[in-house]
Amino acid sequence: MQAISRRLGHRFISPAACTASLKSTYPLYYGADHPRYGSSLAPKGVGHLVRKGTGGRSSVSGIVATVFGATGFLGRYLVQQLAKMGSQVLVPFRGSEDCHRHLKLMGDLGQIVPMKYDPRDENSIKAVMAKANVVINLIGREYETRNYSFEEVNHVMAEQLATIAKEHGGIMRFIQVSCLGASPSSPSRMLRAKAAAEEAILREIPEATVMKPAVMIGTEDRILNRWAHFAKKYSFIPLIGDGSTKIQPVYVVDVAAAIVAALKDDGTSMGKAYELGGPEIFTVHELAELMFDTIREWPRYVKVPIPIAKLLATPREVLLDKVPFPLPTPNMFNLDEIDALTMDTVVSDNAFTFNDLGIMPHKLKGYPVEFLISYRKGGPQFGSTVSERVSPDSFP
Ligand SMILES: NC(=O)c1ccc[n+]([C@@H]2O[C@H](COP(=O)([O-])OP(=O)(O)OC[C@H]3O[C@@H](n4cnc5c(N)ncnc54)[C@H](OP(=O)(O)O)[C@@H]3O)[C@@H](O)[C@H]2O)c1
Repeated sequence: MQAISRRLGHRFISPAACTASLKSTYPLYYGADHPRYGSSLAPKGVGHLVRKGTGGRSSVSGIVATVFGATGFLGRYLVQQLAKMGSQVLVPFRGSEDCHRHLKLMGDLGQIVPMKYDPRDENSIKAVMAKANVVINLIGREYETRNYSFEEVNHVMAEQLATIAKEHGGIMRFIQVSCLGASPSSPSRMLRAKAAAEEAILREIPEATVMKPAVMIGTEDRILNRWAHFAKKYSFIPLIGDGSTKIQPVYVVDVAAAIVAALKDDGTSMGKAYELGGPEIFTVHELAELMFDTIREWPRYVKVPIPIAKLLATPREVLLDKVPFPLPTPNMFNLDEIDALTMDTVVSDNAFTFNDLGIMPHKLKGYPVEFLISYRKGGPQFGSTVSERVSPDSFP
C-alpha cells in the first residue's frame, strides 16, 4: 500500500499517525480508542447568528438548540416550531431509538439530530451541548420513581445543565421550563424542586429565561386524556376535593410558541420569568365538564375528599423504595398532585405573560380539545352537542 501511494505521488500516513494528527488538530476528535463522550467545551457555539433564507423549514435561523426533554409532550411541539423556521435541533435521548423518531421528520434533512446521552454522566451532557448556541431544558416529571427523586429530575439536573452551559461559554440563550405555581412555599414537593431549580439557574446564568406554564392541554396531555379514559372505562371520574380549585390550563402549542418568541426577540426576555396560563380560569370541575361535553358522555363524578385521596395515594409512596420492583405510574391519585391541588394555580397579577411575548393564547374550547372526540363511544359523530344535551335517563 505504501509503495502504491508513493508511486501515485501521495505521502503515506499510517492510521496511527493519522489519529495522532487529528487528535492534535481537533481536540474533540472521537476515534475508536477515544470515548464517544470525551467532549470538552472547547467549541464556543456559533457566535453571531447567521440567518439565511425566508424563514421557512429550509432556511437557516442560526439557532442550534439542544432541547433536553425533547422526547416528551411539550418537546414535540417545540421541536416542530424550531425546525420549521430552519433551526438545527439536537435531541438528547436516553431511551430507545423509538422515543425520538416522531421528531425526525419535523425538520429538513439533517436538522434534527438525536444524540444518545446519560443524564447522570456529565461528559455526555457536554457532548450534546458542545455544538449548540441555545439550550432549552424541558426535563421534568410529576411523580417519583425508584431511580429518580423529584429533587434530582426537577432541580439537580436543571442546575447541572446551567453550570455546564455557563462553562461552555458559547450558549447565547438558556431557557428553563418550570411550572406555574413553583414556589419554595408550595405544598407540592415537585413545585418546590422546580422553584429551587429556577433559583439555581438564575444564580448560574442571570440572563436565563424561565417559562412557567400552567397545566398543558393537547393531544398527548396527561389530564384530559386520563379523565376521558377513566370516564369511558368506569362512567365517572373521581373529583379530588370538591373540584373547586382554580387552574388556568394552557394549549401546549402556545407554550412552544412562547419559547420560540423568547428566542427570537432582541434579548428583552433574558433574565425574566413568564407565567404562561391560558385565557380562561377554570375550576377543576368546570374543566371536567368541558371534557365530558366534548366526549359527549353524561358527566358523573365521585367527589373524593382530600384526606381520602391522600390515603389512596399513599401506599405507592410508602412502597416505592421498599419493594424490589417498579411500581405503576400514579394516574388519578398522585400524592404530590393532590398536594398541589390544595391551592389555586393561576397567573399572578404582575407577572410577565404571553402578552409580553406578543402571543394571544388559544381558548381551550374548540380545536385544542378536539382530540377528545376519539373518546366518543360511537365515533366522532356520536351523541348530542352540549346545547342539545339529553337527560341521563334517555342516555344510552
Ligand atoms: N405537562 C404539563 O401539564 C406541564 C405543566 C407545567 C409544566 N410542565 C413542565 O414542562 C416540562 C415539559 O413537560 P412535558 O409535559 O413535556 O413533560 P413529559 O412529557 O413528562 O416529558 C418530560 C421529558 O423529561 C425527560 N425526563 C424525565 N425524567 C428524566 C430523567 N430522570 N432523566 C432524563 N430525562 C428525563 C423525559 O425523557 P424520557 O422520554 O426519556 O422519559 C421527557 O423527555 C417539564 O419540565 C414539566 O415539569 C408540564
